[in-house]
Amino acid sequence: MSVTTQISNITAEVEAIVAQSNGIADTIKNLAEAFPGEIVFSTSFSWEDQAISHFIFSQNLPVDVFTLDTGRLFPETYSTWSSTLSRYNQRITAYYPDAQLLQEFIAEKGPNSFYESVDNRKQCCFIRKVEPLQRALNGKKVWITGIRAAHSPNRNDMTQVEWDGSNNLAKYHPLLNWTTEELTGFIRQNNVPYNPLQDKGFVSIGCAPCTRAIKPGEDFRAGRWWWEDADKKECGLHVHK
Ligand code: ADX
Ligand code: SF4
Repeated sequence: MSVTTQISNITAEVEAIVAQSNGIADTIKNLAEAFPGEIVFSTSFSWEDQAISHFIFSQNLPVDVFTLDTGRLFPETYSTWSSTLSRYNQRITAYYPDAQLLQEFIAEKGPNSFYESVDNRKQCCFIRKVEPLQRALNGKKVWITGIRAAHSPNRNDMTQVEWDGSNNLAKYHPLLNWTTEELTGFIRQNNVPYNPLQDKGFVSIGCAPCTRAIKPGEDFRAGRWWWEDADKKECGLHVHK
């Protein structure tokens, strides 16, 4: 089968399942039946990801859940990870940076070189996030993420299902059109554990040295890599054209 046929087949199948299913849990259940062992969900323990974890874990849906532990996460993120395990008693697999790559990078550039140039920052993101992500997605056909359109203008024109040519799989963003109010309402109603930083102005949370709280009126992602131009603020996990 040609690569183009494979792309349109998988994307069309995922789109059809999303259209025919009744709500997020039902969609994920149907996707897991159609793609057994080939569907994954990535969590950064954000509000969005905690809501999706709730759908998966509370209904025991057969989807592998993984996180990318960059080694530079906030202590609060690790606490949220722990409280999620206690609450649902389900498995979350952590992927780590390649030790050799990281060791060489740190020896050459030091631990905080990401503040010095966009190139250094992208190299750090590649080693700590993108390369481990490639391992996590290897052999998978569907990747569920917590992306929302409200995150940034770049995410505003995304569709719920899209083909990811970098990783050769279909992405499904179940919360794409949720507002922040809907999301926080869902978290509250279901008593879902969440990162306490979210209540302190940290709306989009990544690695500790590269994330700060936003002030009222600032953009959702203004606290991420705040020293860089707005158009450079993607770490390479989500390549969207
Ligand atoms: S990023 O590209 O800026 O880092 P963002 O924080 O908006 O991404 O998160 C969007 C989605 O990417 C999350 O909902 C989650 O699915 C995935 N993601 C981001 N960071 C991680 C991480 N450390 N581990 C696993 N998944 C992640
Ligand atoms: Fe490195 Fe910062 Fe990227 Fe984390 S967000 S991987 S610390 S550059």
